Amino acid sequence: MKKVLVLDFGGQYNLLVARRVRECGVYCEIKPFRIGMDEIRAFAPDAIVFTGGPATVFEPNAPQLDPAVFTLGVPILGICYGQQLMIHQLGGACRRSEVREYGKVALTHDGTSELFHGVEPTSVYWMSHGVEVERLSPGFRAVAATDSCAYAAIEDAQRRLYGVQFHPEVLHTVHGTQIIQNFLYRICGFAPEWSMASYASEAIEECRVKIGSGRVLLALSGGVDSAVAAALLYRAVGKQLTCIFVDHGLLRKNEGDEVESAMRTALGMEIIRVDASERFLTRLAGVTEPERKRKIIGEEFIRVFEAEAKKLGTVDFLAQGTIYPDVVESGLGGESAVIKSHHNVGGLPEHVDFKEIIEPLRRLFKDEVRALGVELGLPEKLVWRQPFPGPGLAIRVIGDITREKLDILRDADAIFREEVAKAGLERSVNQYFAALTNLRSVGVMGDERTYDYAVALRAVETQDFMTADWSRLPYELLDTVSRRIVGEVKHVNRVLYDITSKPPATVELE
Ligand code: XMP
Repeated sequence: MKKVLVLDFGGQYNLLVARRVRECGVYCEIKPFRIGMDEIRAFAPDAIVFTGGPATVFEPNAPQLDPAVFTLGVPILGICYGQQLMIHQLGGACRRSEVREYGKVALTHDGTSELFHGVEPTSVYWMSHGVEVERLSPGFRAVAATDSCAYAAIEDAQRRLYGVQFHPEVLHTVHGTQIIQNFLYRICGFAPEWSMASYASEAIEECRVKIGSGRVLLALSGGVDSAVAAALLYRAVGKQLTCIFVDHGLLRKNEGDEVESAMRTALGMEIIRVDASERFLTRLAGVTEPERKRKIIGEEFIRVFEAEAKKLGTVDFLAQGTIYPDVVESGLGGESAVIKSHHNVGGLPEHVDFKEIIEPLRRLFKDEVRALGVELGLPEKLVWRQPFPGPGLAIRVIGDITREKLDILRDADAIFREEVAKAGLERSVNQYFAALTNLRSVGVMGDERTYDYAVALRAVETQDFMTADWSRLPYELLDTVSRRIVGEVKHVNRVLYDITSKPPATVELE
């Protein structure tokens, strides 16, 4: 299988670069630019992409590469900083641009480069730079320009070195995917061969070899990642895997049962399900502060898991459903060190005896994890669930949490989800749920005065969950949901729709 190395210079779109390469059916990994030639050679890439980055190439301490990288003989595509670095290190020069290009810019290519094969002569590209190439290195020529940037794309076709000032990985670049495909298929000569079916069998084999006759322990949270990790490990080592499903009682309606039955029926796995709802509710009683709720849930999850795991004695491996963005975003995979502010779990268990951690999904993006889940036989419905936060409904009951409030919320949320599905909007709305406000207000039902809760509905459209727009759900749908919730769920007499985007609001209400 052909492999691309994405050398990370710290730019904000770096994960996207890797994502796009894999979408083209070519396997790639991101590594920080600092790795030396030994590691690069050990990885044995068939092509390399240099990403963008925030540094200024001609300033002291700007990231540089061992020039030997250019003599490996593999095709290289430099993006933004990557292009500038290539030119800077190969005898050309860069300078600060007179006009800082940012945003959508019209670019024209001259029709002579393989990189632009099949791409219309002038179209929109995404630019974000204040430095540009001033003088090309020997062997290079310009193949595309914008009004203010003469070297918007360059190449040394003989050595298969290519550079672009724009970001082909960003969807605003209209023909970005085509350009990446041209690089991979036409210039590197790769075929789209990275698929989940082939990955699944390789990963199963890899786990089998690593685990040998050892025992593996995994905590199921009810979420997609841990379920897929379990499915993979079960295929690899069968009963050597023990799964402990810590049910914190904060899942959506029927969700715990659905996860359990998928594991048992679809995969034939045995799991230990611990109903810890009482314990979680006791610890959460009277707690109103969102971050405190998160912390308690993270800690409690680990404690329950530890208590169960202790009964099993020493295990060889502790499996985790860590996925690629977690690895990269925590600074271990690439250069970009964005630390997630909210992660599901409260760290590693301290009191479980295990020798090694195994993370079978650590090279996969979220939708690859989903595709793998389906490949391994998990039900589509389970695998394609919308994102659900680790702390569950605890951060959707505003203020203090009680069993009664959770039940009200679960019923209201189930109605909303059912109606969104009926309207065929499940995949186009990225996240949608009900939250229970702790606002109670006066209403009238029959001839009776009521004094009950207001449920808030939230639905958003987003690509990355960093920013999100509120969904313009059809009024008819909102009307049906509102009538059903008030009619069917006791103690709710008002339904509100949240029409704030993120920022300034967040997706969750807490
Ligand atoms: P916010 O509310 O930060 O949500 O705009 C962005 C995305 O993150 C999810 N989220 C969480 N996920 N633990 C999680 O695992 C959390 O504590 C948490 N808080 C928010 C949220 O559901 C949305 O998809």
